[in-house]
Amino acid sequence: MPIGTGTGYNAALLSHRLGDRRVTSVDIDPGLVAQARAALARVGYTPRLAAADGLAGYPPSAPYDRIIATCSVRRVPAAWLAHTRPGGVVMANLSDGVVPLRIDGDGIGYGKFLGQVCAFIEARPADSPAGPTTQQIIDTAMGGTGRARSAGPEADGWADPRFEFL
Ligand SMILES: C[S@@+](CC[C@H](N)C(=O)[O-])C[C@H]1O[C@@H](n2cnc3c(N)ncnc32)[C@H](O)[C@@H]1O
Repeated sequence: MPIGTGTGYNAALLSHRLGDRRVTSVDIDPGLVAQARAALARVGYTPRLAAADGLAGYPPSAPYDRIIATCSVRRVPAAWLAHTRPGGVVMANLSDGVVPLRIDGDGIGYGKFLGQVCAFIEARPADSPAGPTTQQIIDTAMGGTGRARSAGPEADGWADPRFEFL
């Protein structure tokens, strides 16, 4: 289960690899979920998508073999451990580190941080006062909407080896 459906790209990759019946993804932004659902349908995938707070897990499809968070958290929500079957893995992005946690029979996750730096946008709690939407966060980071700009490692200053894609 990817948490943070966004464009649906992760869900598409997983649907292709695993079959869409085995994929569930949630995003807190209903507009993004609708767009992702339409985009996925256009390329022939219909995974289970829901507008929901991924910080609370997603009980309807639990237990999961894998929970992959593509938004960052400050602490691993207990629900992610509870919704993962023994032997399954929770892949969490804490600050700018990624830790795969293997869940044991008592629902405890064990793992070590990977060596690479990785930072997704921070998960928004559903019950927080209205903060910026995901689109507003992206627009701010990109310097506004409707403005053409060049993109690429050099233009974005991402030649930094910490941002290498593996
Ligand atoms: C980096 S984007 C994910 C990109 C996505 N995996 C893709 O394939 O396009 C992070 C996403 O996390 C979502 N998000 C933020 N807080 C969330 C929460 N509490 N629960 C679920 N999704 C959340 C955002 O709306 C945003 O779409």
